Amino acid sequence: MTTPDWSQATAAMLAHIEATSRQVSTGVPHWADPVTGRWTVTPDGDWTGGAWVGQLWLAKLLRNPVPQTVPGRWLKRIRPRLDKRTAFKGFTFYYGAALGQILFSDEDAAAVATTAAEGLADLYDDALGLIPLGEDAEEHCAIGTAESSIDSLVASPLLLWSAAVNDDERHRVIATAHADRVLENHVRDDGSVIQSTTLDPANGKVLRSHTHKGYNDTSIWGRAQAWAMLCGSMCALRQPEQTAWLDYARRTCDWWLANVPGDGVAYWDFDDPAIPDTSRDTAATAMAASALLKLASLLGEGEGQRYREAASRSVAALVRGYLAVDEYAEYPQGMLRGGCFTRRPDSRPQDRAADDVELVFGSYMLLETLLVLDGAADATTL
Ligand code: GLY
Repeated sequence: MTTPDWSQATAAMLAHIEATSRQVSTGVPHWADPVTGRWTVTPDGDWTGGAWVGQLWLAKLLRNPVPQTVPGRWLKRIRPRLDKRTAFKGFTFYYGAALGQILFSDEDAAAVATTAAEGLADLYDDALGLIPLGEDAEEHCAIGTAESSIDSLVASPLLLWSAAVNDDERHRVIATAHADRVLENHVRDDGSVIQSTTLDPANGKVLRSHTHKGYNDTSIWGRAQAWAMLCGSMCALRQPEQTAWLDYARRTCDWWLANVPGDGVAYWDFDDPAIPDTSRDTAATAMAASALLKLASLLGEGEGQRYREAASRSVAALVRGYLAVDEYAEYPQGMLRGGCFTRRPDSRPQDRAADDVELVFGSYMLLETLLVLDGAADATTL
């Protein structure tokens, strides 16, 4: 099968970004219904909104922004999340703010990202040896003070960014301890990933492995696997001397490649017994593709080649099967369908109806991979 035209897919996504920025006058995009095209928004961006600002930073690489898509305008809307006590600020402000410094040396964005990194460092718990999910995590009704998950690994790339840009040794030490402990607690020997753990508050020992969003406590939730791949490779890129992180990135990516369906698009949970009659997760798949491209750059031409090819196959499957490239398509142009927050009955009200929809962070990841595959962005810096 021929490879899709990456630049045509990118152009469709840019058109969609502009349409979204006109549609959403208050709040921040969270997920969109492919049938109506309507966005469900959150007041301050929730854990997902940084990915919307991230899309605008990426878009700015290609086009001069129109007033509605100036990233700084939207960064103001997610700023209230700086005060939140949760490890997921790492996601919000890596993509929402640090990316502005990385791509454009934007000083305002750098200041916001630095404040977020300081807040994360203050949440580090010495006894646990990591940053716990925190009382403002989206799983707030299902956590105590000593809960952790692989999703929280995203705190480390932001702290490592800050350590490098601000020459902040404390941030480097905390990022390293957090990454070491979270990877150790959630990655199994075969490279598969269990989402969540309950820890002993006195010493950080794992009392129970479980899931907040997967099918059950032993199943492999698609995004758990993808978070480990993505953040493991981001950490390894920022500190290549930590060879254990490269090893985690490689093993989790290898597990994904050995278990993902033949068409390259993951189901929401690898162990849902209803497969194939259940939801896909295009967001997890796009995150995995981003991770594969990062791992490929880490490993270089020879060994990295098969990861780059695998990423390219997955992105091609997403573009062909789930992205409305054509202006006259059945779904809004540039929208990535097929995202699913979780199929669990205990999901949050703002996520519940979201099945086979556009998830704002899935679209960020797809756009990022398109730019990397097309040579417009460098996987090693993102
Ligand atoms: N907590 C991040 C996620 O749902 O993927």
